[in-house]
Amino acid sequence: MKPGLFLTRILPMPVMHRLKILFDLKYNLHDRPLTIPELMRGMRGRPALISMLSDPINAEVIGSNPRLRVIANYAVGYNNIDLETAAGRGIVVTNTPGVLTEATADLAWTLVLCLARRVLEGDRLVRKGRWTGWNPTQLLGIDLSGKILGIIGMGRIGKAVAKRARGFGMRVVYCNRRRLPPSVEKAFHASRIPVYGLLSVADIVSLHVPLTRETHHLIDRRALNRMKPTAFLINTSRGPVVDEKALTTAIRQRRIAGAGLDVFEEEPAVHKGLLSLPNVVLLPHLGSATVETRTRMGYIVVENIKAVLEGKRAPNAVHV
Ligand code: GLV
Ligand code: GLV
Repeated sequence: MKPGLFLTRILPMPVMHRLKILFDLKYNLHDRPLTIPELMRGMRGRPALISMLSDPINAEVIGSNPRLRVIANYAVGYNNIDLETAAGRGIVVTNTPGVLTEATADLAWTLVLCLARRVLEGDRLVRKGRWTGWNPTQLLGIDLSGKILGIIGMGRIGKAVAKRARGFGMRVVYCNRRRLPPSVEKAFHASRIPVYGLLSVADIVSLHVPLTRETHHLIDRRALNRMKPTAFLINTSRGPVVDEKALTTAIRQRRIAGAGLDVFEEEPAVHKGLLSLPNVVLLPHLGSATVETRTRMGYIVVENIKAVLEGKRAPNAVHV
């Protein structure tokens, strides 16, 4: 008999195919966010769960299924899961690191370029029929070449963002709990500085930290005040790393030049003040959203569930 698995959304076709072969698969046919009661009903009695970053896998949800053995989160971030409760019940939690690094770094750069060159403002101008022809002073952006990119969180994704900076001729400064080996710093042309120093020198500040108690509102009013009035903030990590209200005020008062956001404090809600600001780019959490990446994430999830149910070590177990 195949082991029971509950999947909270619909994944790319090749992944669904593999899941159906390997497991007694039950999934959310409607492919919309489930309420907590729906989630608990769906996973009842099943040893395996595939959750999304948008599913709150809290103590109540975990406690509702005494047979649960593995929670495979379809994401690299796992702040949506109560790790302490899972660990206390001997449930393995896994994530999908590595496979979404390049896609997320590409998206961070997409936001950088959109802001630096005012791409969406230009697009809106053309669509509205307001373009009257080439103009020597219209929609002037900034050169990236020669500027400073500040990366907060130099893990896999932070490094992939740093790697791309070389091609754009930017210098990199970073903050990280640990210093990178000198050979790695050299390869990325990156130097480590304290966070407040980074905020005051960077022309672009890009966030690549996980959401934890320590990083919640890391970018608050005080941090924003440190930034240059010409600087842009990029967030492809987790919304609550930034105080969205303080950010809106800072942009409105021109204390920073703009922001590119792929994540929000209360997804899918967006702070209302952001919607009317032209120098803000808002994306619907697309960091890992490519065909290749979302498929690879699915295969990683499969490998992790198989390992746990076969009594082996999960390749991507995460710990409290
Ligand atoms: C996306 O945000 C992820 O954590 O995979
Ligand atoms: C711009 O289009 C130029 O030719 O300089």
